[in-house]
Amino acid sequence: MTKIIYHDPQGKTHDIDVKPGQSVMEGAVRHAIPGIDADCGGACACATCHVHIKPDWWDKVGAPNPMEQSMLDFADNVTEHSRLSCQITVSEALEGLEVTIPEA
Ligand code: FES
Repeated sequence: MTKIIYHDPQGKTHDIDVKPGQSVMEGAVRHAIPGIDADCGGACACATCHVHIKPDWWDKVGAPNPMEQSMLDFADNVTEHSRLSCQITVSEALEGLEVTIPEA
């Protein structure tokens, strides 16, 4: 398991063990973390799984691909560290990753 740290829109922190191979979105949904609706189920078609990556982690997580970026163009509160969490696959290399779920 890989620990992912989610900061929800109310400012509460959730330390969650996520199975490698699952997405950061799936880890949030399985633990009912507020603010990740994942309306499209991970198809990169809704942007309701938007998160801000802690800047220290940006190089490891990487930038969005063009399709993801075009969905982010429709999201609110987008920053230079925005990603769609359904497009980030958890691996051991992401142990301790911190993401913040912005207000919708
Ligand atoms: S769950 Fe819809 S874009 Fe990620």
